[in-house]
Amino acid sequence: PHKKPLTGRHALVTAGPTVEPIDPVRFLSNHSSGLQGYAVAKALAQLGAAVTLVSGPVSLTTPENVTRINVQTAQQMKEACISALPADIAVCVAAVSDWRPKHVSVVKNKKGTSSLAPIDLVENPDILRDLCHIGAQRPSLVVGFAAETDHVLKHAQEKRRKKGCEWLLANDVSQGVFGQESNRVHFITEDTIEDWPTMSKEALAMQLAQKIASFFHQQDTQ
Ligand code: C5P
Repeated sequence: PHKKPLTGRHALVTAGPTVEPIDPVRFLSNHSSGLQGYAVAKALAQLGAAVTLVSGPVSLTTPENVTRINVQTAQQMKEACISALPADIAVCVAAVSDWRPKHVSVVKNKKGTSSLAPIDLVENPDILRDLCHIGAQRPSLVVGFAAETDHVLKHAQEKRRKKGCEWLLANDVSQGVFGQESNRVHFITEDTIEDWPTMSKEALAMQLAQKIASFFHQQDTQ
């Protein structure tokens, strides 16, 4: 049978939200459904890649032929990603919490005590940026997603440069996208912008996986 184009490649995908504890019963998180990240993992596996999916808590089933590692916090997600290296490809789709509570209370915070508010926050690692600058283990192709509400292209181009990834898929979330079935993105590289039409998250994932396959095909034939 015909060899799948990403056979022999290892892909690392992050997906879902992260959850940052405040106390034993409370946390900071976001509305990420994990749909887009799981679709990317599935599409890459369908093209033959060995896929490690580092996932925050979501209610989705693991796609076939995908190795899933469950995490809660951004710090755990970063550790799991680094442990999964080396990888040829990294696609960061997770909605990582930018902040985490500085102190996690071991007992439940009570009403009427001064310990509840304010909650001091510290910055979480930027997993995408860190993967781009990890040195010898750096995947040869690193891809990010960016949700923007305004000046989408300008902000996304700046973000791609700042993070240091080859490709960034930017979408306009001013109308909301979390948990929706479809997505519309601009595909941004160092010197090109492609406007992809609105399509299902599954179709978008497959289009991205095909792009990734042609990236490696070109690299191999050069
Ligand atoms: O900076 P911003 O959150 O808009 O960037 C989004 C991209 O960066 C996504 O690909 C997301 O997975 C990644 N990211 C990350 N770690 C963070 C924040 C964002 O990997 N702490």
